Amino acid sequence: MKLQVVETTEDAARAAAEELVGAARAGGHLALSGGSTPKRAYELAAELEPDWSAATVWWGDERCVPPDDARSNYRLAREALLDRLTQHPAVRRIEVEHGCEEAADLYDRQLGGQTLDLVLLGLGPDGHTASLFPDSPALAELGRRVVAGPPGLPPYVDRVTLTISALRAARRIVYLVTGREKAEVAERAFAGPPDPQTPASLVRSDRGETIAILDRAAAAAL
Ligand code: 6PG
Repeated sequence: MKLQVVETTEDAARAAAEELVGAARAGGHLALSGGSTPKRAYELAAELEPDWSAATVWWGDERCVPPDDARSNYRLAREALLDRLTQHPAVRRIEVEHGCEEAADLYDRQLGGQTLDLVLLGLGPDGHTASLFPDSPALAELGRRVVAGPPGLPPYVDRVTLTISALRAARRIVYLVTGREKAEVAERAFAGPPDPQTPASLVRSDRGETIAILDRAAAAAL
């Protein structure tokens, strides 16, 4: 995998925004991430390109809360990106208001055989990515593209997540990781051996490139 180390958090957000915009302009299918890190990247992506009409937007994972809840990954992307666009993409959000298990079944069917052109991912302090937590049964799921399960870290609401095989089928995987507090886990995820205790170490594109965009602080142990 390729590491792209930039100086500041803002530089990292800009690099991720450029990735998103490139895929959106090309009419790609993109999967967005949750957490707090991508917010600035979403804002910059909307500034760089307000016309996303050619793109289709999916999510890598979702918290089982209503779409207007402050913990919703969809809400983050709506406020920071989608609401700021002049031309909107097709939006395929994970409809968790149907219940977590039902939403996972529905998303699995919706995703079908669709190839994702770009998947944006974050990295949790325990090594999780999307909602694939250390040693969780979801890591062993081979038959499904989407599963529901409990969280390993706050917020303690159930999650719906793409599985490792669904993520690995993407044409391009981009991790965005910033801050000194992620330095040790970034080393395990991007420079260590594949390890179910660090799920991000297992998620690499089988079809194309995997890159990690890190600011200088997050790259300190690499
Ligand atoms: C989620 C995520 C998750 C996130 C990491 C990093 O729904 O929580 O998609 O995988 O990307 O936990 O989160 P932060 O950006 O908040 O550190």
